Formats: sequence, structure tokens, C-alpha cells
Amino acid sequence: MSSETNADAAEESTSKCGGVTETESASSSTSSSSNCGASSDETSSSDSACGASSSDSSSASESSCGASSDDGSTEQEVGATIEDFDAEPGQLTAVGLGPGQPEGMTERAKTALLEAEHIVGYTTYIDLIPDEITAAADELYDTPMCGEVSRTEEAIDRALAGNDVAIVGSGDPNVYALAGLALEILESKGATASMVEFDVVPGVPAAQSCAARLGAPLVNDTVSVSLSDHLVPMPEIESRLHAVASENFTITIYNPWSRKRRENFQKCCEILLTHRDPETPVGIVHGAGREDEQVMITDLAELEDLGESEIIDMTTTIVVGTEDTYVWDDRMVTPRGYETKYDY
Ligand SMILES: C[S@@+](CC[C@H](N)C(=O)[O-])C[C@H]1O[C@@H](n2cnc3c(N)ncnc32)[C@H](O)[C@@H]1O
Repeated sequence: MSSETNADAAEESTSKCGGVTETESASSSTSSSSNCGASSDETSSSDSACGASSSDSSSASESSCGASSDDGSTEQEVGATIEDFDAEPGQLTAVGLGPGQPEGMTERAKTALLEAEHIVGYTTYIDLIPDEITAAADELYDTPMCGEVSRTEEAIDRALAGNDVAIVGSGDPNVYALAGLALEILESKGATASMVEFDVVPGVPAAQSCAARLGAPLVNDTVSVSLSDHLVPMPEIESRLHAVASENFTITIYNPWSRKRRENFQKCCEILLTHRDPETPVGIVHGAGREDEQVMITDLAELEDLGESEIIDMTTTIVVGTEDTYVWDDRMVTPRGYETKYDY
């Protein structure tokens, strides 16, 4: 993995920020030929004809990868507002694809995608959708990693322009994903969620897909922490890690490692070791449900060194057990407490 990005919703690609792959250029040409019906400034839109103005498209640049722009600002303004659309709005659905393989998608997700006229998402996620579903869509709009704000706005503009739109992501739309951003941008455009019949179709989150590969590590209280400092500053992440690790929760760690985030991972391991025994079981799952899936059960003492190995990158979720978690027959087990009440 060579990802250097800090973008939260887009760290599963090997492509560089803003780089154009074959799929991306093919899809871009599909999307650029679309005309979604925004009534003003359509011609000024650089990437699509769905309403975002050119200045806003550049402020939500795909190539900035969520990093600060030259002036140090990370703000991205929305383009078209509700005033710019004449059409009766279509529907907007945030669809969770689950871990990756088609059989990991829910029937509801498949139906929502089949019903959508336009499917919008990060290229890697669009590639996860079965061909018979993408073939049924009128338009696919996929962009390379980063640019989650402009991509989400694109989906919204297409819905406000009268199309039924699905915006997709891996796992679940509520887990470090775009459901919240979609609502925030809708609000900032002066629209409402009801106007586009905004709906969320849940998917299996990475924590659960990965836990399934490890045995039963999440059976008691569990907290997730993302090590991405793109949107949350590292001191805040450290403070959250201290709080969570000092209590007896299982911890699922998302966005664990990238070359630029190496130090975050090291810091995380240090913090975990200040609160937990070095022998605490740790499960590592890379690419759950995907062709390159790898699974390892180790312990906290070994975790930091594994940061430099292939199994830990931005498609990995790490599960740190509680003080009660143990490994039995190559499975992590976190007792729920039944043993305190029942004899078995
Ligand atoms: C921006 S978050 C998106 C999470 C997603 N919405 C979910 O519900 O799983 C991306 C992070 O999810 C985790 N992840 C996503 N897919 C994964 C997979 N197939 N296997 C392991 N971890 C995965 C990784 O930690 C990755 O850095």
C-alpha cells in the first residue's frame, strides 16, 4: 500500500491522490457528459454538469486529498444552493456496501443500488459493486481517493436536479463515512433531508467483518477509535485513546497506518501499553472479505513492530482485546460474563 493521504473516506486505494486510473478516466468521461438539470452556472462546473460552480469545484479539489490548501485552510465551500435547481428533487440514499465481496452486501443495499439512476462513490468502492448492478445504472460517477466533500456534493446536486442517487461507501455509511457529511451539506445548501427523501441503507462495518474473522472479540462493550488525524487533531485522538484504553473496553482501531501516519500508530501502541498488559490479545485483519485478506492474532507487545509489515495499512482494522480477552484454538474470545452466572 502506498497511500499517503489523510482523507478519512478514501484510504483504501493504492492510487495516489488525484491520480487518474483507467477506470477513473472512463468514469469521468461518463459523468462529464451528464447534464443533471441545475438551472444556473452549469457550464462553469469543471467536473460535472450537476450544479457545483467551478470555483467551488476547485476549492473541493480532488487533488488536495483533504490536506490543507496553500493558505492553510481546509474549508471547502458548497457550490450550488437549493435556489439553483428547478426540478422536483430525486431521492438520495447513502448505501453501505459491507466489507467488499458481493455476498457481504445486504439485499437492501443491492435493491437500493438497482433502484438508483446514478451511483456516486470513490472508485475503489464503485469497483466493489457487482457488474449487473452498475450496468443497470444510468450513470456512474466515481472519483479517485480524496475529495469526499466534492463527491458528496456531486451526489446531492444530482438528487436536487431530479435524479435518484445512491452514494456508496464500504462498510456502513454511519461509521467514519459519508452519511453525516451528506446531511451537513444538504443543510448548508438550504435544502432539507426530506426534500430528497434522504435514507441510509446500513452495511456490515469493518469492525464486525474483521471480528468475524478473529472469532468473538467484540462480545462485550467495544469502542472504535480512528487514528486518522485529517479531521481530528492527534492530541485529541491521544486523549480519546487514553480514556478508552484505561477502561476495560475492546478497542477497534480504524485507519491505523499510512506512511504519513506512522507516528500516530507508534503513539497509539505506546498509549495502549501504558494501560494494558503487553500480553493482551490483538487481532489484525487486512482486507476483510477481499482477495488480499490477511488475518493475524498477536499480542500488544508485538503490535508496534507489525506497523512496518504488509498486514497493517489503510485497509486494516485492529482489534485490541480487554483484560478478559483470551485466545483459544486460534480464536479471540472476549467473555460476555455468562461464566459469572452459569456453570458450563
Ligand atoms: C473511512 S473508514 C470507513 C469505514 C466503513 N464505513 C465501515 O463501516 O467499515 C476506512 C477504514 O475502515 C477499515 N476498513 C474498511 N474496509 C476494511 C476491510 N475490508 N478490512 C479491514 N478493515 C477495513 C480500515 O481501518 C480503513 O482504514
